[in-house]
Amino acid sequence: MRENPLVLHVLGARPNFPKAAPVVRALDSLGVRQGIIHTGQHYDALMSDVFFADLGLPEPIANLGVGSGTHAQQTAALLIGLEGVVLEHTPDLVVVYGDVNSTLAAILVCAKLGIPTAHVEAGLRSFDRTMPEEVNRIVTDSLSELLFATSPDALSYLASEGIDPRKVHLVGNPMIDSLFGALPALDPSPVVKRLGLPPRYAVATLHRPANVDSPEAARELVDAVLEVSEQIPLVIPIHPRGRTRLAEAGLVTSPSVYVIDPLGYVDFLSLVRGAALVVTDSGGVQEETTVLGVPCLTVRPNTERPITVSHGTNRLVTPALLPAAASKVLSDGAAIPAEELPVMWDGQAGPRIARVIASWLHGDNLAPAAHNRVTP
Ligand code: UD1
Ligand code: UDP
Repeated sequence: MRENPLVLHVLGARPNFPKAAPVVRALDSLGVRQGIIHTGQHYDALMSDVFFADLGLPEPIANLGVGSGTHAQQTAALLIGLEGVVLEHTPDLVVVYGDVNSTLAAILVCAKLGIPTAHVEAGLRSFDRTMPEEVNRIVTDSLSELLFATSPDALSYLASEGIDPRKVHLVGNPMIDSLFGALPALDPSPVVKRLGLPPRYAVATLHRPANVDSPEAARELVDAVLEVSEQIPLVIPIHPRGRTRLAEAGLVTSPSVYVIDPLGYVDFLSLVRGAALVVTDSGGVQEETTVLGVPCLTVRPNTERPITVSHGTNRLVTPALLPAAASKVLSDGAAIPAEELPVMWDGQAGPRIARVIASWLHGDNLAPAAHNRVTP
């Protein structure tokens, strides 16, 4: 390893930012030389810039501006852009996050260039290969040198795919580090006031291709969401992916439906904290509602985060079952998690990841399997 090794983080889409911020901060406090490459997969100020401000992320050293397109177009642009920037900076380790196309492309580029990689949020599986993210997860995990798992179920999935357990570290969930960091600032009142919401409201986020890309799916979902809005006013910070299709399916602002632009990180979680109910198809929001103790109905047939169902407030529903499930949640009152929070969802995942990375950079042998099963 070089005298002063360099770590690069590849970020590109909204959910990457709260996962990376605690890792960057913790590496900084260990004096590790590092930089962020922003791929530009997400580029609207409300999908990107606002997170750098809210999470205190440093300016990227490069923004590749790859933007949107089909999977092939976007991934091709990512591969070309990332290869150039990685060759220019010659990092000793590249850290990737979650399951987005920027993550997949970074892993492929580094594998071909022989540059080691670390995957934060390894081992999540929905077992649904129609989801682009599931393909990205499997490829990313198979090519990573260091794998950081957020929940214990990931360990057996990775082992069953033949991944050497000595590479895998259970470290907890850095997205929850960000949530705990923001907690003192999470006050629903100013956002509620600004949006003109009543004190009792629900929040919905919807962006999965299976829910919003086809007119039929969008209509079924919108019909269900509108039924929920007859029970409780619903605020929907709309992801750009579904904006047009959901509007065509009838999701428009009305006295009980507040369709608004995406919210910044602190504003969004403030709103969630004060909500009586969250309806979502987001991955991260399932985790955040688990920790905030807010009832969450996830409109998906499966989840790669089953721990949010077993340890949290999350429940999977079909669009057809959503209105009745919402009605039950609203009449039962706030759901308190039955058990304690998932192991190591304690705000210390970033420091755990940084310690493993720093040891790895210094050539320490991280071999003992017992150590790798749980990194306390
Ligand atoms: C991506 C991730 C998904 C993640 C989501 C988080 C992949 C395959 N998918 O999905 O896992 O849950 O981000 O938000 O990587 N758009 C804008 N402005 C932007 C960004 C996107 O208008 O700043 C619009 C474009 O029309 C674009 C569409 O949203 O075509 C989809 O963007 P894309 O990054 O391809 O996928 P997401 O649906 O955002
Ligand atoms: N989020 C946000 N503003 C919004 C919607 C979501 O700040 O209007 C945050 C949310 O709190 C979480 C992250 O964005 O931290 C999740 O991103 P997203 O749902 O886009 O992606 P996923 O987790 O489904 O991959």
